[in-house]
Amino acid sequence: MHQNRPYDLEYIRNQFPALALSVNSYPAAFFDGPGGTQVPQRVLDAVNDYLIYSNANAGGKFLTSHNSDLVIKEARKALADFLGARPDEIAFGQNMTTLNYQLALALTRCPGQRREIVITEIDHEANRGPWLALKERGYKIREVRMDTETCTIDMDDYRNKLSGDTFLVALNYASNGVGTINSVEEMISLAHQAGAITVIDAVHYALHGPIDVKKIAADYLLCSAYKFFGPHIGIIYGKKALFSELPAYRLRTQSGLAPNLIETGTLNHEGIAGASEAVEFIADLGRRFGPSDSGDGLSGRKDMTERRRHVLSGMKAMEQYERPLAEKMLDELSSIQGVRVYGPPRDYPRTSTISFTIEGKRADRVASELGQKGLFVWDGHFYAIRLVEKLDLQESGGLIRAGLCPYNTEQEVDRLLEEIKRLAK
Ligand SMILES: Cc1ncc(COP(=O)(O)O)c(C=O)c1O
Repeated sequence: MHQNRPYDLEYIRNQFPALALSVNSYPAAFFDGPGGTQVPQRVLDAVNDYLIYSNANAGGKFLTSHNSDLVIKEARKALADFLGARPDEIAFGQNMTTLNYQLALALTRCPGQRREIVITEIDHEANRGPWLALKERGYKIREVRMDTETCTIDMDDYRNKLSGDTFLVALNYASNGVGTINSVEEMISLAHQAGAITVIDAVHYALHGPIDVKKIAADYLLCSAYKFFGPHIGIIYGKKALFSELPAYRLRTQSGLAPNLIETGTLNHEGIAGASEAVEFIADLGRRFGPSDSGDGLSGRKDMTERRRHVLSGMKAMEQYERPLAEKMLDELSSIQGVRVYGPPRDYPRTSTISFTIEGKRADRVASELGQKGLFVWDGHFYAIRLVEKLDLQESGGLIRAGLCPYNTEQEVDRLLEEIKRLAK
């Protein structure tokens, strides 16, 4: 049996300057990771260094422009390693939502008879709104049901919604609302059997599990660097054969080749530099704390770069650290009278993002009170508004969401649980 090297929480926390913040003399405990993670020093340095040593527009004949081109080229490689893609399948944009709108607009220009788009009730609005907007252009939207008891997608309903008219299926890799990890590989396979293309929102999942776009056979997959230790930029993966043909709206001065064809205007170069370094940070966690020998099944694999192997080990190390903390939170929250936890059944795949309500207390009040004690949690619908509507919580203020990150401590979890017990009394 292989062993993980010990997870050095102190080392990890020391990488994040923001963790030193305090509120009313309480140390800040960041349970807001699903809304955006904190940023390690090496990512801050990469952003800073870009602006000192490489700050120029692309394609010039002088030093800083060469450097800039190099930073972006390297970033495509890093993100390709993160997602199991090829560098020319990775494009950057303002954020996931904007990239998805661009994608939706471009796809409407693809010729074809199919006029139905399948979306789900569990998705964040960013993977619903751009498709719902296409109703104006004559597309019919079919919405897959979420089982409100289990907060999982109703697979029978999904199968029924697919047909020979399905043009596209927009799926959620993991729910930022309640943490459910959906069976995307199976769902993509079913979509492909129906002849549809697939767009996967991996924004929430990206910090919580390894992504292999080839294995799941995604056509398009989107994520956001600020959810995995990077700055605020969006990333889109497009399968080469499809991406190269995407009729994206662009200036005539812009390259029509993938991946550049969707990258309108000047990119956020310093953000891209930071996103690249965020991948390096995860790879570094893998090198330091991931499985130490061939027992991880990755050593010696020739079909991936060394950095990708380390990224996968880093993901595993984070997941193994967070899992028992998440289980403790689930157990203890569920045992507090008046607290109701929402999410998938215990044996169902899930992230370490936990949402709940407290009887008789609005979520915003709870979040404010916790915030005063330095406990940062989100409240409301987190743009997973359809899910919150389905759970019938919209009127009462929505959910309270505490998400675990690799830098959260057990003491922080205990502090949070203590305060919730007090508020639930
Ligand atoms: C699951 C999910 N999808 C999409 C988004 C939107 O991402 P962005 O802010 O990059 O547009 C978020 C952000 O919270 C999210 O959690």
